[in-house]
Amino acid sequence: MLGKSLIDPMDLSVEEIYEILDLGQKIIEDPEKYSQSCRGKILATLFYEPSTRTRLSFEAAMLRLGGSIIGFSQAASSSAAKGESVADTIKTIECYADIAAMRHPKEGAPKVAAMNSAIPVINAGDGGHQHPTQTLTDLLTIKSLKYRLTNLKIGVCGDLKFGRTVHSLIKAMSRYEGVEFYLISPDELKIPNYIKEEILEKNNIKYKEVKKIDEVIEELDILYMTRVQRERFFNEDDYVRLKDRYILTNEKLQNAKEDMIIMHPLPRVNEIHVSVDDNKRAKYFNQVKYGMYARMALILKLLGRDE
Ligand code: CP
Repeated sequence: MLGKSLIDPMDLSVEEIYEILDLGQKIIEDPEKYSQSCRGKILATLFYEPSTRTRLSFEAAMLRLGGSIIGFSQAASSSAAKGESVADTIKTIECYADIAAMRHPKEGAPKVAAMNSAIPVINAGDGGHQHPTQTLTDLLTIKSLKYRLTNLKIGVCGDLKFGRTVHSLIKAMSRYEGVEFYLISPDELKIPNYIKEEILEKNNIKYKEVKKIDEVIEELDILYMTRVQRERFFNEDDYVRLKDRYILTNEKLQNAKEDMIIMHPLPRVNEIHVSVDDNKRAKYFNQVKYGMYARMALILKLLGRDE
């Protein structure tokens, strides 16, 4: 993986993903062992869109590996505000840093950066398209808490149209045996056809589209909630009409399996009531921490510092 960029979850083979997850688990068991592994290396975080978890977990990951960080957290504080292209920005950043993580509102921007870069570029979320390091986070969470990536019934609920975390998760999970999806959304926020046709149907993955969580809750091993992505709507009225469609409460979880886990990439708006946070099935804040370890493992692999 040394020197590779990560733009799409499929850029990593199943074996490479297992290697990253194994390394993530080793870091969790003995973080001290890796605390100087990236000494002398610099990570640049280039965020053209808001973020709490992805940017800060990348930065925490590099700092916990003994490396250093530079970057910007909004386009307005970079020369993008003066009209600089993504290609010119990355050609500049490669003079300063050894690896870069980029979030951008335009689909494909991190790919353009990677094509123009001498250093590895990691897609930290591009528009409504993909979010591969959220997927590594999700896979490490699932593997750590469910002890497998196979034979899982996964309900994904909410904004399946614009939710890039869902698109990446379905892509990645489609390669594991016995995985079934329940796609829970209103008609207006259904999963894009390309995910159904090119990923689910092409790989003979069983899936069912439903409108209500109650229709499938008893079946699920994982319930993956997502927020309605206000920033991707063209029309505020549509957002207002759809934003409260799913609000998960403890009452709605009464028929769920005891060992079902609830995940959410966060940020949460109101799609999971705060009282659910105390439910033993709620694992979304554990997921946040797994995200840092997954990114530590990824940085080590891409910089060849994993030995
Ligand atoms: N999950 C996620 O991408 O969160 P942020 O937008 O806070 O980075």
